Amino acid sequence: MPQTLSISVTETLPDSPSALVLYANGEGEMGQTAAGLWKRTGLDFSRIAKATGFSGRPGHMIDIAAPAGLGCDRLLVLGRGADGEGDNAAAWSDRGGSLFAKLDAAGVSDAAVVLDEAGLAPHLVGALGAGARLRSYRFEKYLTRRKNGATHPTALTFVVAKASGMNAALDDALAVADGTILARDLVNEPANLLGPSDMADVANTLADRGLSVEVLDETQMKALGMGAILAVGQGSVRPPRLVVMQWNGGKKGQPPLAFVGKGIVFDTGGISIKPAASMENMKGDMGGAAAVLGLMQSLATRKAKLNAVGILALAENMPDANAYRPGDVITAMSGETIEIISTDAEGRLVLADALWYCQDRFKPKAMFDIATLTGAIRIALGEEYAGVFTNTDSLAAKLQQAGGASGEKVWHLPIGPAYDKLIESRFADIKNQGGRLGGASIAGQFLSHFVGDTPWAHIDIASTAFGKASTETNTSWATGFGVALFDRLTRDGYEDGG
Ligand code: BES
Ligand code: MN
Ligand code: ZN
Repeated sequence: MPQTLSISVTETLPDSPSALVLYANGEGEMGQTAAGLWKRTGLDFSRIAKATGFSGRPGHMIDIAAPAGLGCDRLLVLGRGADGEGDNAAAWSDRGGSLFAKLDAAGVSDAAVVLDEAGLAPHLVGALGAGARLRSYRFEKYLTRRKNGATHPTALTFVVAKASGMNAALDDALAVADGTILARDLVNEPANLLGPSDMADVANTLADRGLSVEVLDETQMKALGMGAILAVGQGSVRPPRLVVMQWNGGKKGQPPLAFVGKGIVFDTGGISIKPAASMENMKGDMGGAAAVLGLMQSLATRKAKLNAVGILALAENMPDANAYRPGDVITAMSGETIEIISTDAEGRLVLADALWYCQDRFKPKAMFDIATLTGAIRIALGEEYAGVFTNTDSLAAKLQQAGGASGEKVWHLPIGPAYDKLIESRFADIKNQGGRLGGASIAGQFLSHFVGDTPWAHIDIASTAFGKASTETNTSWATGFGVALFDRLTRDGYEDGG
């Protein structure tokens, strides 16, 4: 296990941190404590800023070794931007990521970060810490010949004027970052080492945080009539699983929020097999389930005041003598029959049973699914946005807002009965593929058949779950997209009985 970056808050400057970090603008204006420390060095700020091209923009840095007057090896001055610039959580999270990267590049082990700006709200200090922790994430467990002696920062201390309220906000933000990191770990893990039952095992490890966890096997799924998820999994030697997690932090009897994740541990396409190019990416086709797992861990860790259900629809989509085929007619738990056109449109099938089961059993106040569902959403939105499809427009608005605040952005796209004619089948109630045009909306419309009257929204994260170029807060292949989005959604709209 790599060491996690520890982050704490204090009102008193630590004695001799290996590095001291101050924030300043281009004119050298700093908070009071920072300005006092700078003064002790006797250095001329404007000469140094000029010589190094320091403008005070976020991402800019002045790096001084062994400064006189201070007991640290390194003094870093980071650009804090103009007053009022980027004063939201997403921007402070990016600053945290940038901070970690600078310390890492400077070879610093631990740093005291002076944050005495007036009015720096607790949740922004939390975001700074979360961003640093997210940037510190690396997936290197299988690199046996990793360069020896590569050291990374291990501890940050935030020095603030008033610590009260800061610790709780930091803990909350770190709980969410750690949920994102759990999701990344699962998405990065190769499919030979992470099958359906292995993911269920990970869910079970969360039981000691106060989550209840049930794992349904094939026999139980058969008894419930889950013909869709069973069909998808029948070609694999590793049978499907349905995981049901519950967090009851709200009032007893209050209907839960529900989150359902697509968990295809590997998607070969099955008999409708995929082309070889980039097929290795399909180890990430459980990104939705990973996000739900990460979210449930976050909710439990920060003891969120609501009732929530998390469901993972886990299966492996393989070609095999026993695999399901194009032309097969299967019966979903809802009773609806489905003609299989493409065995590669498997995500909507496992979700059909998971969504139906979820609303049938839990009668949730609202239900969200998250899935690496279609290549079409990648074409539509690129890697910046995930797609939202819903039967209740107010849910899309809430998600869009949560996306802006968390930095995990979503865009509302249409579904509706007009798409139904594309999935009419000659042999069954519905078919699982409807042509190339509007593929992401067709998939969303297919799912809408399995949600009953429940207010529901579907997030297609095939665009954002993995493969994106590095950002300030992520250098790994997997993004963990969805944990922060859903956490923000629950906080802003559903906690404390809201
Ligand atoms: N898992 C894929 C979608 C996907 C593609 C996710 C690329 C991430 C990156 C999904 O199961 C799939 O194969 N979808 C098909 C549906 C089609 C057969 C109707 C697609 O999008 O081509
Ligand atoms: Mn597929
Ligand atoms: Zn898939």
